[in-house]
Amino acid sequence: MNLPSKYSFIELNTELEKILNIIQDTNDNLCVLGAAGVGKSLTIQLLSDREFYNHNTIVCCPTGISAVNASTDNIKAQTIHSLFRLPPMSVIPVDHLKTHNDLEDLFVNLHTLIIDEISMVNSDLLTKIVYLLNQYRGGEPTRIIVFGDPSQLAPVVSTVEEQNYLDDIYGSRFFFHSEVFTSMRVVHLNKIYRQSDSGFKEILNRFRMDRATDKDYKVINGRVMDISEFGNNALYVALTNNTVNLINDRELQKNPNPFKVYHGEVSNFHPLPVPKDLYLKLDAQVMITANNKSVGYYNGLLGRIHKFNKDTIDVATEYGVFSIEPYKWSKYGHEYDKGSGEIKAYEIGYYKQFPIKVAYALTSHKTQGLTLDKMYLDLERGTFASGQLYTSLSRVRSLEGLGLARSIHKRDSKISSVIKKFYKKIEKTEKSVRST
Ligand SMILES: Nc1ncnc2c1ncn2[C@@H]1O[C@H](COP(=O)(O)OP(=O)(O)O)[C@@H](O)[C@H]1O
Ligand SMILES: [Mg+2]
Repeated sequence: MNLPSKYSFIELNTELEKILNIIQDTNDNLCVLGAAGVGKSLTIQLLSDREFYNHNTIVCCPTGISAVNASTDNIKAQTIHSLFRLPPMSVIPVDHLKTHNDLEDLFVNLHTLIIDEISMVNSDLLTKIVYLLNQYRGGEPTRIIVFGDPSQLAPVVSTVEEQNYLDDIYGSRFFFHSEVFTSMRVVHLNKIYRQSDSGFKEILNRFRMDRATDKDYKVINGRVMDISEFGNNALYVALTNNTVNLINDRELQKNPNPFKVYHGEVSNFHPLPVPKDLYLKLDAQVMITANNKSVGYYNGLLGRIHKFNKDTIDVATEYGVFSIEPYKWSKYGHEYDKGSGEIKAYEIGYYKQFPIKVAYALTSHKTQGLTLDKMYLDLERGTFASGQLYTSLSRVRSLEGLGLARSIHKRDSKISSVIKKFYKKIEKTEKSVRST
């Protein structure tokens, strides 16, 4: 495997090497699975780099938030609905399945469609976009490569009717019940590069598969403590908006400093990652909500407002004080450029604001994708969604960074039985992929 030299930091573990070989040496459809921090986004970055993969690609994501999170300097992700111009519905009625003349060039010249956060794409949506691609391309297949973690949050289905429809027609709401999945090779990335503590990683992996042992529960439940014992600079993660709003309001009110407000500038962009009217106070606990690799802060980093400057806001964090500048989030579209023969992303909307929000507490749903140093997890009266417990637990880097408001019980681990069956099945097929 020859990687461009700028990727010399990448460790080619067995599974990653297999994936990169499939990508470069075959034209097979591919499904890359794995926990948080195993290198899925890194692989998408390689696929988006013509030095590694010299084909027209588009990266798309199920939601606006996931598209913003997936986008970097090198990756410009669009939502699936916007790319295919679908109405904002989870199950698309057949009479809304239309091709558009002005999108023909784009899809005819698309070599590979990449989908991130595939766990949130439902079986019907995946089936329908494959149908549309076929329409645009007169049956000539597009390569499809998907990435995700089925143990994290499942597709949102708004009504019981939709749920029943997906169960009846496809077998379940999950993407792997769409027919195109049968054409995909499946590789599971196993080595986690994000968390540091290896014992904790193994425990998390068992929670991910709903295979945690009594000992695992005991170790995790050793972290039950009063919040005052856990100390400052922790994010309180709860399950309901009620609890989260209560804590944020209460803590902000305790702070005697005056409010300072910053107004954002928005153009064709929603949902907003931080409030349009951003109310802050000196010394308030905040989360930085953007990555800046060169300066050293990242999405999810907690700190306190240290100083308001003329054009920047100083935030004191565990890694030092950062002068945060206003940030621009972009929303992207894609077009085919006849001259170069390449598909290019272009901006169709933006939002400018400081990448900062008051963050004493956050719901577990909103922690998806974040890496936290210190988290106090309150499971309140119990989890209510597939993947909720695992998604929350896997945000912290170490066991020491975790505090629990109450003990975790087996009933809190709500991995759907459909997902567990799926893992059993791919464990068998993975072995066959391994031997090819
Ligand atoms: N094989 C690897 N070698 C070196 N670093 C890696 C490797 N895989 C992932 N990383 C690093 O680990 C972190 C998490 O990877 P990422 O691709 O964001 O994970 P995922 O998308 O699966 O959650 C990133 O900083 C990434 O650069
Ligand atoms: Mg990722």
